[in-house]
Formats: sequence, C-alpha cells, structure tokens
Amino acid sequence: MKKNVIEIENLKTYFDVSKGLFKAGKNVVKAVDDISFEIAQGKSLGLVGQSGCGKTTTARSITMLEEKTDGNIKFFDESQNKMTSIDDLSEDQIKNFRRNVQMIFQDPYEAMNPRWTIKDTILEPLIIHNIGTDKEQEEAVIEILKTVGLTPPENYLSRYPHELSGGQRQRVAIARALIMKPKFVICDEPTSMLDVSIRISIMDLMVSLAKDLNVSYLYITHDLAVARYMCDRIAVMYNGKIVELAETEELLKNPIHPYTKRLISSIPVPDPTYERKVYEITKQDLEEIENLSNNKDDLYEIGNKHFVSTHKIKGLL
Ligand SMILES: Nc1ncnc2c1ncn2[C@@H]1O[C@H](COP(=O)(O)OP(=O)(O)O)[C@@H](O)[C@H]1O
Ligand SMILES: [Mg+2]
Repeated sequence: MKKNVIEIENLKTYFDVSKGLFKAGKNVVKAVDDISFEIAQGKSLGLVGQSGCGKTTTARSITMLEEKTDGNIKFFDESQNKMTSIDDLSEDQIKNFRRNVQMIFQDPYEAMNPRWTIKDTILEPLIIHNIGTDKEQEEAVIEILKTVGLTPPENYLSRYPHELSGGQRQRVAIARALIMKPKFVICDEPTSMLDVSIRISIMDLMVSLAKDLNVSYLYITHDLAVARYMCDRIAVMYNGKIVELAETEELLKNPIHPYTKRLISSIPVPDPTYERKVYEITKQDLEEIENLSNNKDDLYEIGNKHFVSTHKIKGLL
C-alpha cells in the first residue's frame, strides 16, 4: 500500500453571512459540508463540480488560507514518519507544511507581483524559506525554467509578468510552485483561463512533471473531461458535499449518482452532427440513491473502491 500524502476527514467550512446587527438568526453558507478523501503519494485526485459547489473553499481550507469550521486535515510528516493533523503542528512543522503543499491558481497574474521580474517571482519561495546560496538559488531558477519549457531561461529572467502570454505566465506559476520540491500540489482550475489551443500543453506539462517529481495533486476543475485526462481518481462535488468518488475510468463507465450521470452526459463530444441529451434527474433516481444504504452518515461503498453519497441532496431536480 502506498502511503497517503494527505487525509481529509469530515471537513466543514462554513461562512457566516448574516448581515446587520438586528437581523434575527444566523445566515450560514455551508461551502464545504462534511467531505472526506485521501490522496496517496504520487497519485492525483480530481475534484469536479459546477461553479459555487465549494471546490476553491476546499483548497483554501487545506492550505490554511481559510479557517475550517470542523473536521481534520492530516498531512504526512516526514520527520516523524506519520500523518499529523495540521491543528497540531508546531511553528517549524507549519513551515515544513507550507514548503510541501503548494497551490497553483486559476489566474496566475493575480498571484504575482506585477513589479517583480520572473526571476524574483520564482526565487521568492526559496528566499522566504532560506534555501541555498545566491548562486544555488539562481541555478535552481534556471533549471526550473527549463523544466517548465521556458527556454532559453535567460530570455525570461528579467521580464515582467505582463510581458508574457497567459500560457507562459501559468508556466511561471508552475515553476514557482515546483521549485520548492513540494509533495502535494493543489491546482485550482489552472487552465480554465487559457486559450483552448494551449490548455493541453499545460495539462501535459503538469502530468509529466507530477510523474517525474512524484508529486501528488488535487486537481480542481468544473470540467469532467479535464479531470478524466489529468487524474487517477475523481471526486464529484455538489453543494458542499462529495456525491461520488471512484477511479477515473470506473466513475465514467459506471456512474451511480444521478448528478454524476448528468455531468457525464454534458461532456461535449467531438462529432458536431451528434446531439447528446443531457441526463435528466428524476425523483425516482434520487429515491433509489437514498435507499442504497441505511447508513446515512458517510459515503457508501458499492465495491471496487467506488463510493456514492446516499444523502438527500436538495436542489438537484
Ligand atoms: N469568503 C466567503 N464568504 C462567504 N461566502 C463564500 C466565501 N467564499 C466562498 N463563499 C461561498 O461558498 C460557496 C462555494 O464557493 P467556492 O468554494 O468558491 O466554489 P467553487 O470554487 O466550486 O466555484 C459559494 O456559495 C460561495 O459564494
Ligand atoms: Mg473556484
């Protein structure tokens, strides 16, 4: 059995959106509502679902950019050779966690300082974490630029983010994340703002780098076809919950949850003469799902490491 790099247990992240002093009662958005999953070393999990279902909040909770409301996030701590909850980390261990868990965002421009050169942008994490001498740092930047396909590197070092194309900027963001040699990378819709023509090359780059560097990743996307291309397993999210989780091909061949069926039926097909009907969810579908298991607390395993939620879920019809 491969070791896990991350384990998420019953994660909840709620936002209090009550406005005004005199409004009675609390108004809470359950952005992430009791989700669990784990990712093994070198493996990838796709987190798929429509806009607003809680994907980014999941990512931000894992990376401690957002405070979770409840649940447990465990990370493999090499120094102790065991899974450690992020709630129990010492300051040094938090530093180590931040080195090992990197995030790549949808809009790389937003995550970069426009006044910094590409060299400074990629160098920053090494400086923050005090890794290597000046010379070693410079060499590392040149090496990682080559790795992400920005060659010759000398042509990029003194340029600024606005001088690059969207695809090149995303390569810089990948370089910046990978220069730390992380164990786990969260990619939040990293190609959705790019032209279709360069999306594939960035996806291919990420897949091959993850393999070469033995990095695990959580790949967030609203596009099931992208997750299929990128990931070993897929978790389908709806309304803050994971409704189905399985190996990629298993999920696509044998979807159980009606919401997954609907997502699959809306993947565009290359043949323009073929009109596919989007799967329509019925009341009966939902009843069948709810009757699958008496255990309403967790994901129900139908076998083959294929899990489906039997919760009643509002808003699907
Ligand atoms: N800081 C916040 N305050 C209040 N509500 C938020 C905040 N961040 C996200 N939300 C809400 O949480 C839900 C999930 O958002 P998000 O995680 O961004 O979804 P996704 O990334 O899947 O599009 C949405 O309803 C969103 O409006
Ligand atoms: Mg998002």
